[in-house]
Amino acid sequence: MSEAIKKKILDLSSEINEHNHKYYVLNNPSITDFEFDQLLKDLELLEKEHPEFAFDNSPTKRVGGDITKKFNTVGHKYPMLSLSNSYSEDEIKDWEERINKLADEKLSYVCELKYDGVAIGIQYKGGQLFQALTRGDGSQGEDVTTNVKTIKTIPLTLKEGAPKDFEIRGEIFFPLDRFEQLNNSRAEAGEELYANPRNTASGTLKLQNSKIVAERGLDCYLYGVYGEQLGFNSHSDAVTAAGKWGFKIPSFEKNMIRKAGNIDEIMSFIHYWDKERSRLPFEIDGIVIKVDDYRQQDEMGVTAKSPRWAIAYKFKAEQVSTRLNEVTYQVGRTGAITPVANLAPVLLAGTTVKRASLHNKDQIEKLDLFLGDEVYVEKGGEIIPKIVGVDVSKRTSDFQKVEFIENCPECSTPLIRKVGEAQHFCPNENGCPPQIKGKIEHFISRKAMNIDGLGPETIDLLNKAGLVENYSDLYHLNFNQIVELDRMADKSANNCLKSIEASLQIPFERVLFALGIRHVGETVAKNLAKHFKTIDQLISASFDDLINVNDIGDKIAISIQAFFQEEKNIEIINRLKATGLQFEIIEKENESNKLEGLSFVVSGVFEKVSRNELKSLIETNGGKNSSSISAKTSYLIAGDKMGPAKLEKAEKLGLEIISEDDFLQMIGM
Ligand code: IVH
Repeated sequence: MSEAIKKKILDLSSEINEHNHKYYVLNNPSITDFEFDQLLKDLELLEKEHPEFAFDNSPTKRVGGDITKKFNTVGHKYPMLSLSNSYSEDEIKDWEERINKLADEKLSYVCELKYDGVAIGIQYKGGQLFQALTRGDGSQGEDVTTNVKTIKTIPLTLKEGAPKDFEIRGEIFFPLDRFEQLNNSRAEAGEELYANPRNTASGTLKLQNSKIVAERGLDCYLYGVYGEQLGFNSHSDAVTAAGKWGFKIPSFEKNMIRKAGNIDEIMSFIHYWDKERSRLPFEIDGIVIKVDDYRQQDEMGVTAKSPRWAIAYKFKAEQVSTRLNEVTYQVGRTGAITPVANLAPVLLAGTTVKRASLHNKDQIEKLDLFLGDEVYVEKGGEIIPKIVGVDVSKRTSDFQKVEFIENCPECSTPLIRKVGEAQHFCPNENGCPPQIKGKIEHFISRKAMNIDGLGPETIDLLNKAGLVENYSDLYHLNFNQIVELDRMADKSANNCLKSIEASLQIPFERVLFALGIRHVGETVAKNLAKHFKTIDQLISASFDDLINVNDIGDKIAISIQAFFQEEKNIEIINRLKATGLQFEIIEKENESNKLEGLSFVVSGVFEKVSRNELKSLIETNGGKNSSSISAKTSYLIAGDKMGPAKLEKAEKLGLEIISEDDFLQMIGM
């Protein structure tokens, strides 16, 4: 009996591994996301019932959940060297000539992308992922195995043909679309944005909660195989073989890796990617050129820090210089102060740049900025360009040093800076105009209360007229007050009132998100609502109660408690309660998690249920609705008379297009 169950678990695991490889590494799935999730759920269930067979490398580990309290330091079996860098083509030519003399025979090379991420060394034993270490100081690194196991393109179990014992090295990076998504959700939660994908990849790899790592969607390309008697003669053969064992390797067809026989071929690879790199879905900071043949590599050997047989050509980040005219300060809805450099407009990487983020006070001090300075502006992975330096030779004695402000530029309240935080805040939460307006704008936004009859201009007018000082005032407006505002007609005033009224139906989790508690984004709000069920339970939750909830750490817990300790906030909540907003979870019939992780686009006219009903069925079953089709869409539910453009796009992307009946069957209706 137990042997049969063990076999079932192993078979199911390898079936899932196979689909995982097809989906993430080959980009060529052969089953739907739904079917995949079903297999995974089956395995989870079996493992729960038979924990003795829940193997360390089970594909269920991919979703994360295990916590690493401390990342242990472990020695590398082979030192993790770095590459010597060069910033000019001449240096590459010199290197090529130099090693040619050294070798005294014809050399062949491999050109690769230099991925801009974090180096990782992963050991496999008997075809199983055994241990993953960061580079650390090159001789010892940190054990980040639990987190690495959540990266879908890194196989947990290898296919046939892989050596018994070896190490593979590569670069873990943050795909640009995932980075953008992450920053969007941070913006929604009123949190500081992450500066660039590389540092965020590195930070993510060191998170204690592997579930968050899994959700972030890191990726990995491999660039080297290490071991005894592997049976390859060249690096290019080893990389190709690694692809067969299940690793994600760069594509020869797409010119992401290429063999080169001479310096001209090397140069053409460099030129190609210098031009094309902006089209890649991840960042690279250069090109790596390696001698292909292992014997030749061995003969050339290594220096203390880097091998002689490889060199990196680093791209120059596009940089221009321009004048710093002024530093202004923005106040976000949570009171965070962001200094912004106002620049003389200048063309950089195809766009005109007028502003650059200065992040915080420390950054200004580090740059030692003076108004009027000629500053160097660079566009890297950051969303907004940054100032990387100052041309001090252009500075004259009448320039004034930039001093960070001490009072809020909008309400003059003295700013505060919390221990351990980089940003300054205006603490005047309920009296500072941009915070008041920012909070109301967040409250009415689509993902929160979805009051679409109101916009930022109307909010501004209502606020100036003294009618709305906080979001609870919205529910006490009448027709006459609205219609008297500038550019308001009867119809638009009615629409405003209607959409305010409709928001009374918005469920608790979105109301909670709408309150605009710092660090409480959509997901955190959902988790809190699910856990505490009512606002009263949440308000009276202790610190320990809070940190026991999924994905909630100290920072969020502190912020939630601070919000509810503010008397004014409780007063506003009580007023909203009296108005009839949803402050409790309503457990719905038919609720399930069947569609968890799936995203749907609903289009056209339906027979059995209305479009809105379909959308709410998707949500009550744990799925997500999206209005536009993208590669992330799991299913398009197509009704009658759907737009041809949508259909065409879905077909182009190879999306699964299903009917109303297919969908109802999916949720068991
Ligand atoms: S080979 C001994 N290949 O660049 C040579 N490295 O300083 C080992 N990197 O820490 C590195 N892309 O993390 C190699 N295609 C590539 C690479 C690459 C990125 C990183 C690597 C290393 C750093 C070199």
